[in-house]
Amino acid sequence: MTSIGILGGTGQHGRGLAQRFSAAGARVIVGSRDPLRARETVAKWGTAGQSIVVAHNAVAVEHSDLTVLAVPFTSVDTVLTEVHSQFRDTSIVIDVTVPVTFAGGRMTMLEVDEGSATEHIRARLPAGVQLAAAFKTIPAHVLGAADESLDCDEFVCGDSDEARARASALVELVPGLRPIDVGPLSRARFIEHVTALAIAINRTHKIHDARFRVVGLT
Ligand SMILES: NC(=O)c1ccc[n+]([C@@H]2O[C@H](COP(=O)([O-])OP(=O)(O)OC[C@H]3O[C@@H](n4cnc5c(N)ncnc54)[C@H](OP(=O)(O)O)[C@@H]3O)[C@@H](O)[C@H]2O)c1
Repeated sequence: MTSIGILGGTGQHGRGLAQRFSAAGARVIVGSRDPLRARETVAKWGTAGQSIVVAHNAVAVEHSDLTVLAVPFTSVDTVLTEVHSQFRDTSIVIDVTVPVTFAGGRMTMLEVDEGSATEHIRARLPAGVQLAAAFKTIPAHVLGAADESLDCDEFVCGDSDEARARASALVELVPGLRPIDVGPLSRARFIEHVTALAIAINRTHKIHDARFRVVGLT
């Protein structure tokens, strides 16, 4: 059984991912800075019987085949420094972060020197670790509505064929989500802006569920 570690798995997005992967039969390790507090959080999810365990972020990396990075972008550097030595050459990381902040109720897209959050993360991972981006455009509360089919697409990018394939397989674990491979890692720049567009659509139309479906693909 695939073992998926979700760093920041106690958060809004991490919770939806954890529940969806677990419901699909994966073994999920919710990573946290504080496993005791995280255990209390996960106990309140009402997922008894599902294969979800809790561990420190570093332990989650150590025991996972796939590591999902689901912390706020502004904390990525700290978290990656803490878990750096736990990665193996076979590790695959899936980045779901989006470099936006909501200070004062206003959405701001952060300037990232490397071009995107995913490229920023690439520069901070050990060279042998493979990286893909996924789950950046789906709203967390939609993902967290465990009984709902999502009926939309999720964009996947990465420089490694294997990482893109593994990320696409993760997307396919979620009923109603279709992975769209958009190519190399640098395309994360576009994906992250598409997420900002979804947030803008939500605000303009006073909705919460904006997400995307690509037409024209055979
Ligand atoms: N929310 C969405 O709709 C959505 C959609 C697409 C992508 N994303 C992306 O997914 C990521 C997580 O989003 P979220 O809304 O779930 O975030 P969140 O709830 O604010 O944070 C997620 C988890 O990250 C950990 N964390 C928070 N601050 C930290 C810090 N300073 N240092 C280390 N760890 C910290 C916390 O876990 P512990 O306290 O247990 O360590 C927290 O539960 C973000 O990068 C976001 O851009 C979110």
